[in-house]
Amino acid sequence: MKILMVGSGGREHALIKKLKESPKCTKLYCAPGNGGISRDAETVNIGAMDIENMVKFAKDKAIDLVFVAPDDPLAAGMVDAMNDAGIRAFGPNENAAIIEASKVFSKNLMKKYNIPTAKYEVFDDAKKAMEYVEKENTVPVVVKADGLALGKGVIIAQTIDEAKAAIKSIMEDKQFGDSGNNIVIEEFLTGPEVSVLAFTDGKVVKPMVSSKDHKRAYDNDEGLNTGGMGTVSPNPYYSDEIAKECYDTIFVPTIEAMSKEGRPFKGCLYFGLMITPNGPKVIEYNARFGDPEAQVVLPRLKTDLVDICEAVIDEKLADIDVEWYDGATACIVMASGGYPLAYKKGIEISGLDKNGSVSGAVVYHAGTKLENGKFLTNGGRVLGVTAKADTLDEALKKAYAAVDKIHFDGAHFRKDIGRTK
Ligand code: AMP
Ligand code: GLY
Repeated sequence: MKILMVGSGGREHALIKKLKESPKCTKLYCAPGNGGISRDAETVNIGAMDIENMVKFAKDKAIDLVFVAPDDPLAAGMVDAMNDAGIRAFGPNENAAIIEASKVFSKNLMKKYNIPTAKYEVFDDAKKAMEYVEKENTVPVVVKADGLALGKGVIIAQTIDEAKAAIKSIMEDKQFGDSGNNIVIEEFLTGPEVSVLAFTDGKVVKPMVSSKDHKRAYDNDEGLNTGGMGTVSPNPYYSDEIAKECYDTIFVPTIEAMSKEGRPFKGCLYFGLMITPNGPKVIEYNARFGDPEAQVVLPRLKTDLVDICEAVIDEKLADIDVEWYDGATACIVMASGGYPLAYKKGIEISGLDKNGSVSGAVVYHAGTKLENGKFLTNGGRVLGVTAKADTLDEALKKAYAAVDKIHFDGAHFRKDIGRTK
């Protein structure tokens, strides 16, 4: 099978390495990919949002399976466009990807189908939203832009003034453009966070092994929110008992709700959960694999990923067993100095071999380019250094030992992955 991966980050690199293990996979392309990915797949210079040229390329090369990994092309209908052209694609249709693309949609869905989540109100008017936070007078309070905002659309306001400033910047100053036409104001929840990715064909849902992301830039959960600075799997806070409760009260009801709404979800659905004192609740849905969750979950997948993709597309997920390796994985993200704010690109990375790897770990490239045989930084998150072992302690030790072998000017990474709530 000829397979085309759409996207360019560490998640896509992890997906590619897993797809390569399949005996069915004879040729792999990635558009646009990155320096490290070019060692595992043929990279193609088409942007992830260029639907027209992506479809044309897939047709020209007679691609058997397109895997759309990022949120933007899913929300923009790339899977629909592929299907219209007669090409098989993994990922939700546009009308199902809305579960991530609109928080107003997902909150209303949860309310309608009794899926546990934070209490909330929706506003399309800044003045009314400000009056509401003043009247409620409860802090912290969470202000969320409705649409996609590169993971920056959530503000946890510690004071009423901060909440009003957030409402102003999202709704009046249009910090996130049209993504901020509507906002959700919701109750602040507490408890450990868990990421659970799940395969679903719209009929059945098969949760993957759990993981834990570390979103803040610095140790002890200080600094700004990022796309994710590191992950571990399994998540230490996700017991079998909680997993069962999530399956019954969240996973199955969500899949059924989407089908009842005429928006069957096919692909990977990401449940961002918080284990609150009142039970597990949904913080957010994503319509795709998480990044860097994919980097710790996929190395534990035993079943052929191509078989799973086909079963999802053919709505036959009930017929296959999705199996996992025991043990644990840890991924340490090495980021550019300054990330998630401004950072430099084009800095030489030392310590990697010619394939972009080091011994003792797998290096997923997130933001690199390859020039004259040298790997250079080319993004905020640069590398996801990942190790697998029998226990989480060993996996962390191996991953950090590998990180020590890699250098680039300004590199920063968290030293406490797997150690905080
Ligand atoms: P998101 O960008 O939607 O993943 O949200 C970013 C982070 O904000 C989440 O990972 C949580 O840590 C936090 N968050 C979002 N909603 C809430 C909430 N209702 N209560 C507490 N924390 C929240
Ligand atoms: N790591 C969080 C996300 O992919 O949204």
